[in-house]
Amino acid sequence: MNYTRSILITGGAGFIGSHVVRLFVNKYPGYHIINLDKLTYAGNLANLKDIEGKPNYTFVKADICDFERVCRLLEEHHVDGIIHLAAESHVDRSIKDPFTFARTNVLGTLSLLQAAKSYWESLPEAYEGKRFYHISTDEVYGALELTHPEGVDSNLSAHKVYGDEFFREETPYNPHSPYSASKASSDHFVRAFHDTYGLPVLVTNCSNNYGPYQFPEKLIPLFINNIRQRKPLPVYGKGENVRDWLFVEDHARAIDLIFHKGKIADTYNIGGFNEWKNIDIIKLVIRTVDRLSGNPEGYSMDLITYVTDRKGHDMRYAIDSSKLQRELGWSPSLQFEEGIEKTVRWYLDNQEWMDNVTSGDYQKYYEEMYKGR
Ligand code: NAD
Ligand code: DAU
Repeated sequence: MNYTRSILITGGAGFIGSHVVRLFVNKYPGYHIINLDKLTYAGNLANLKDIEGKPNYTFVKADICDFERVCRLLEEHHVDGIIHLAAESHVDRSIKDPFTFARTNVLGTLSLLQAAKSYWESLPEAYEGKRFYHISTDEVYGALELTHPEGVDSNLSAHKVYGDEFFREETPYNPHSPYSASKASSDHFVRAFHDTYGLPVLVTNCSNNYGPYQFPEKLIPLFINNIRQRKPLPVYGKGENVRDWLFVEDHARAIDLIFHKGKIADTYNIGGFNEWKNIDIIKLVIRTVDRLSGNPEGYSMDLITYVTDRKGHDMRYAIDSSKLQRELGWSPSLQFEEGIEKTVRWYLDNQEWMDNVTSGDYQKYYEEMYKGR
């Protein structure tokens, strides 16, 4: 088959990456989608079971830091677009082990940039028609103040807002955790490759995602699983920190739109104008799990356990995604309550997926399959 495009997606076996791979493989049968993933603890090929046999899909187990391997792959598959999601993504892990974050997020991104530059510059048409799209986070902007602790209505948001400021594309970077520092550094490298060599880059900074296939170290799947097992729900600090939540499929749709229509060298913020205090989300998740499991709503409230706060815990994230809405016409498709219902239902219906992840079985299966490759 002669494909019209050949796109390398990194980190496609992870949470967001698997939704992006699925969307591209199904929506664009004329594109060859190559999923490059190291299959760290966060990578799980079971996330892609429904599309693994599709003719336009290829999985490659590799490390983005392996520069020679990435160079060979780009050449072998005539890659003309890169969507880069591979990363170490969990803030708590970065506090314990910052080196791994610097290696993957900074050096891994640099390895991909350098490989793309070398390959594309070797072609007669060079950068014509090429795209290097780097997926980043709102955490690079730092933390916002909680100027309205009880929340106020706003015409910007479907939900309450908890402060007067929002992260905008021009907000200066001010990362606090080793995770966000590593992502900020990778964003700077991406932009430097545009400014220095003319590499056609795009960067997006997105808020907290939720939905199916998220690794249960992150708030929402961890809590759904703990409620199911009647385990304590560890709320950091007072549970007053605010996050801005977006359904993962809406993020994947935004990535598709920006990959095709975004302006080279531009940055777009992606978010749902959907701020929630952690404790309010936790109560909503509890009520939803209780109801869908046939228990009285609120039955699991006793599992809430306040624990020592995360070190350097950013107080509030709130993203202004109006540029993306205005310029490219994107908007989130789901109300949060609807998205949470869909998400809880998915985890309750896919307990085998969750049990394989928490037991570590998903890794044993694929370790065997990819032995020596
Ligand atoms: P994830 O941890 O679920 O998945 C990361 C994937 O990257 C895994 O499949 C893992 O195996 C792979 N990977 C890790 N190191 C690798 C390496 N050295 N080489 C190749 N593959 C490697 O992450 P996620 O939550 O899906 O996040 C994806 C991207 O989106 C990240 O860049 C993250 O910073 C960004 N992001 C995440 C969120 C969110 O809420 N989860 C929000 C905004 C931005
Ligand atoms: O904002 C985008 C970022 O969102 C992404 O870049 C990160 O990759 C992603 O992990 C996420 O970071 P957070 O730190 O916001 O997500 P997490 O799910 O770890 O935590 C959400 C909030 O819940 C945060 O304020 C910490 C709190 N929390 C988390 C856990 C895991 C708890 O109170 N208890 C917990 O056990």
